[in-house]
Amino acid sequence: MMSTALLDLKGLGIRFGGLVAVDGVDLTIRPSTITCIIGPNGAGKSTLFNLITGIYRPTSGQVLLKGEDITGQPAYRIAEKGIARTFQSSRLFDDLSILDNVIIGMHARTRTGVLTALLRPARAKRELEACAVEAEEILRVISDELYQRRYEPAGILPQADRRRLEIARALALKPQLILLDEPSSGMDDRDTAALMADIRRVMADRPGLSFLIIEHDMRLVADLPETVVVIDYGKKIAEGPFAEVRLMPRVQQAYLGQKAVEHA
Ligand SMILES: Nc1ncnc2c1ncn2[C@@H]1O[C@H](COP(=O)(O)OP(=O)(O)OP(=O)(O)O)[C@@H](O)[C@H]1O
Ligand SMILES: [Mg+2]
Repeated sequence: MMSTALLDLKGLGIRFGGLVAVDGVDLTIRPSTITCIIGPNGAGKSTLFNLITGIYRPTSGQVLLKGEDITGQPAYRIAEKGIARTFQSSRLFDDLSILDNVIIGMHARTRTGVLTALLRPARAKRELEACAVEAEEILRVISDELYQRRYEPAGILPQADRRRLEIARALALKPQLILLDEPSSGMDDRDTAALMADIRRVMADRPGLSFLIIEHDMRLVADLPETVVVIDYGKKIAEGPFAEVRLMPRVQQAYLGQKAVEHA
């Protein structure tokens, strides 16, 4: 049986002055899996993503990608190595087309720089055309509607489609792991259900690809992942199937007043 870890966090942490925002988190992600991270506001979920993706440098612990220590490497290098992400607040280039927003996601793995574009324009053009074809294929997997509207500016899209387009852009990196920070925020029930289907479809299309998803919508957590990880005050306080995790007293305690778990 293949049991090689895709991502391994070992005692990962960061301190901002007196605040330990992420505190000794251990986590293993295997290929072709979905893991959801839940936890109260300010628990350290987004900060954990920033540690994994190299936006913050950890003050303790290690990040291993397929056994390679990538701790403290710059964000662009970690992206090149196969970890893509979306952000909690939507980040698209509103004036650029839907298609161009996907193509931008490829920049980390395309060779053509400004110099090549100037000195070898034919080669640069070929590469750009190949990128466009690939971006169109990605859009088709995510949403035929986005594909049909690919030349329209991203700025006109409703929230659910913006989220979809961000996932398409993350896919353009050809990643092994995609981190989504609250992808269902601002979505209604129908959009949330569609998002789950999108993620399943993408996984069927990309063998080996794993997702790590920060989520506060408990319906997504109940239906989607094999594993739920609960973060509270920067610490991992529970891990397992949602049906088990939601019943743990420590988890209920962390969510007291939020009612998020019991209403799932
Ligand atoms: N650059 C920073 N400097 C100082 N403190 C920070 C920094 N980034 C995050 N924090 C603090 O770390 C803690 C965790 O924040 P984080 O954004 O990771 O929480 P979260 O679990 O994503 O919350 P939410 O559900 O609201 O998105 C918070 O107390 C936050 O104020
Ligand atoms: Mg957050």
